[in-house]
Amino acid sequence: MVAIRDALSKDMVGKTVQVRGWIYRTRSSGGIVFAVLRDSTGIVQVTVKKGVAPEPDFIAATNTGIESSVIIEGTVAEDKRAPGGYEVRASKFTLVGPAEPFPITEYQSTELLLDLRHLWIRSREQTAAMRIKDSLLMGAREWFHKNDYVEVNPPIITGVAAEDSTQLFQIKYFDRMAYLSQSAQFYLESLIYSCDKVFSLTPSFRAEKSRTPRHLAEFWHLEMEAAWVDNDENMKVQEELVTAMLHRAADDCRPELELFKRDPADLRRVVPPFDRIPYGEAIERLQAKGLDVSWGSDFGAVEERELTKDSGLPMFIMNYPKELKPFYMKENSDDPRTYKNTDLLAPEGFGEIIGGSERETDNALLIERLKDKGESLDKYSWYLDLRRYGSVPHSGFGLGVERFLTWVCKMDHIRDAIPYPRTVSRVFP
Ligand code: 4AD
Ligand code: MG
Repeated sequence: MVAIRDALSKDMVGKTVQVRGWIYRTRSSGGIVFAVLRDSTGIVQVTVKKGVAPEPDFIAATNTGIESSVIIEGTVAEDKRAPGGYEVRASKFTLVGPAEPFPITEYQSTELLLDLRHLWIRSREQTAAMRIKDSLLMGAREWFHKNDYVEVNPPIITGVAAEDSTQLFQIKYFDRMAYLSQSAQFYLESLIYSCDKVFSLTPSFRAEKSRTPRHLAEFWHLEMEAAWVDNDENMKVQEELVTAMLHRAADDCRPELELFKRDPADLRRVVPPFDRIPYGEAIERLQAKGLDVSWGSDFGAVEERELTKDSGLPMFIMNYPKELKPFYMKENSDDPRTYKNTDLLAPEGFGEIIGGSERETDNALLIERLKDKGESLDKYSWYLDLRRYGSVPHSGFGLGVERFLTWVCKMDHIRDAIPYPRTVSRVFP
């Protein structure tokens, strides 16, 4: 048995091979069936000729519809008209799993494709997206391990809100209520005391009511936390990590990227350092472009698009006003109206892919901020403990994996960056 990718080459010509997979397209004309077969590595044209293949095999090939699974034995031949330039001339055609008429045809509504997601994930776009994501994450793991980070497993069921308490999913937890994690951050903060530098890849949950092309209710969150790291160093980690991820995908996934019209060279061009723009300067840039913003305005899709649309490289926006960000960030002593934090915006108008900050280590400040928000200190007692036993300066960040992939693949909507998107209106299939 050979992978389809490996059957398509000059030195295979004339050889007898077995390939297996699913029928992608099929038509017959004048005693020949032209079937295009796909497996996870590619597609190849198979020809089944009356009089060459045994009669029962030819009849089976004639009647086999798309998405049926089959095993083919045949000879590899060069053929300029075939996709990829080669075909397999079948001597045997074995039907393994027949398919009923496939419900997805060429032009389908987005809603139908979402209803049939369990079948639509076989499409070439979805397959390519999964491969690129795998490669980005491989690049991340390689980078983290080369730099002495430990991969850890924080809990998903939690008792506190790490980001925004209005966007929590509540679950019944035995005889109490609990929440689905929005971020592993607090747990990662607790793990730096033993492991120094940690990272985790977990699902995060946000009960986002807003229907936007950038928000999921469940997304994969790549987060890191490190002791002895300040906000500047935190930016360097982000630059290096993002670069390593993009270069790994550019090296591994040329055909997949090209399917999305993403030139791998765009990804290779990304190298540190990225521009660092203070929030105040970002406001001035937006005002100069005629946007109605002033100090204290939050940045949404519109503002982030304006800031990044003429750039080919990611950029940091630093030091946001405190009112716009969560309570755990370190006060910026150069301008106490702001925090030592950053959002990393992807270029070409895309916007935020990472949120990060140095963390506040002063418990008095943390308690004051929690009280201002009306939060119960009891729930956060363990988090405050972390500052009571050998606190150290530390920083971390979270990268939204589907956001990142959406940008890399120039997708219109984040739902295409995950096999089973969870949004306000959808938990099926
Ligand atoms: O900016 P956020 O909310 O930051 C945190 O959660 C920090 N506690 C992370 C940390 O410091 N450890 O989320 C981080 C990233 C965002 O930049 C975005 O890429 C992604 O997570 N994200 C989402 N992705 C998809 N759908 C959503 N609803 C998302 N919310 C955040
Ligand atoms: Mg954010």
